Amino acid sequence: MAPMSSPSPAHDIGARDEDALKELIAGELGAVRDRSFGLTTGVLTEDDLTAQVSPLMSPLVWDLAHVGNYEELWLLRAAAGREPMRPEIDHLYDAFEHPRAERPALPLLRPEEARSYIGTVRAKVLDSLASARFDTANPLMSGGFVYGMVVQHEHMHDETMLATHQLRKGAPALLDPAAEPLQKPAEASPVDEVFIEAGPFQMGTSDDPWAYDNERPVHIVDLPAYYIDVEPVTNAAYLAFMEAGGYDDPRWWDPAGWEWRTSTGKRAPAFWSRAGGQWVRRRFGRTEPVPPGEPVQHVCWYEAAAYARWAGKRLPTEAEWEKAARWDPATQRSRRYPWGEVYEEGRANLGQRTLRPSETGSYASGASAYGVRRLLGDVWEWTSSDFHGYPGFRSFPYKEYSEVFFGPDYKVLRGGSWATHPLAIRGSFRNWDYPIRRQIFSGFRCARTPEEAR
Ligand code: AVJ
Ligand code: FE
Repeated sequence: MAPMSSPSPAHDIGARDEDALKELIAGELGAVRDRSFGLTTGVLTEDDLTAQVSPLMSPLVWDLAHVGNYEELWLLRAAAGREPMRPEIDHLYDAFEHPRAERPALPLLRPEEARSYIGTVRAKVLDSLASARFDTANPLMSGGFVYGMVVQHEHMHDETMLATHQLRKGAPALLDPAAEPLQKPAEASPVDEVFIEAGPFQMGTSDDPWAYDNERPVHIVDLPAYYIDVEPVTNAAYLAFMEAGGYDDPRWWDPAGWEWRTSTGKRAPAFWSRAGGQWVRRRFGRTEPVPPGEPVQHVCWYEAAAYARWAGKRLPTEAEWEKAARWDPATQRSRRYPWGEVYEEGRANLGQRTLRPSETGSYASGASAYGVRRLLGDVWEWTSSDFHGYPGFRSFPYKEYSEVFFGPDYKVLRGGSWATHPLAIRGSFRNWDYPIRRQIFSGFRCARTPEEAR
């Protein structure tokens, strides 16, 4: 049973009977679609939706039709055995058939056609949900897994659409609330870093019903002692690195990072520029002074690693990040969230309630058992780790979600950003991207090995 104190038991998906779970799923399907429509309407013209703002991104209308096509593929064809609705369009929305840069040249559905197609898919899905059986003998349906996968997928694309909005030129298209209304009181941490004792912890999960294949199975990882920062690295701290000549000193950079630094000429986070003797940033069509107390955002892995080396630290490994976030040394168990088992509003800046990360000192109530803050929300955090399967990994339900990305090309990011929906994040969740990427809502925190252990 979920504790009755939880203001948002909807996110405790484990403890429900089938009817309650169906009701929750129908509600979450509706909520994510409202979010997707909110990112593709308003002042946006037909051209805004079909244009490509950057070769890194798809046209917004591609994401919109793609989430519906994915929903059709998994919830109507795979789960309910229905025939393809429009087989001639499937290839257009197959992410592996056409890389993002090629998508604007495809004969994509126009915005109105896309809305109508995904609406028809959704009507059939709600119909089929009513008679679905969340049978534990059927791994695709067990605990509503495939429905959770589809809801999370659409939320992930909504975050991708926000990155497209951030890259877009022109007048602001999104409402930008000044302050986060739900945040529990802010309180400065008395310390900058915490010590995590040597020892084993449970990494990953085997029983989280909506966890992806790459989060599975749970396994014991024994780590040496380390220190980890309480808060993500701020703009003020990152500016100190810039002003100390960090971008000009190859000592701090990986060889591949220095190659990136010199060949691109980058000398500041993405979207930053100088104006009137100060650093400003462009954020969703508005230009504003860089706020010193927010986590630095839109840095690539190479920049994060260079800062850490300059600071005499390093990026945490993925395992160090997860132990600091989930392990409770008192109960000897890993938690679903840093603060406990059940999601609670106001403990993390998640879900696009603002269009920005929060200031250092915020969300003190979201701290982990070790007192590490803001592990979920605000900015995705680069780790030092390449993306690999855990021991015993088995791809499920398809290789193209995770397995095809395993290897040295991708770095793991953890914790979600202000743009990540609560249903699409948890302490075990793993994201990955190329080490040069900066259009994502990425920042980092540092870790270090104790002197005596070096
Ligand atoms: C987990 C965010 C890396 O966007 O490439 C979307 C998620 N997978 N559609 C991505 C995903 C299929 C994925 N990331
Ligand atoms: Fe996708």
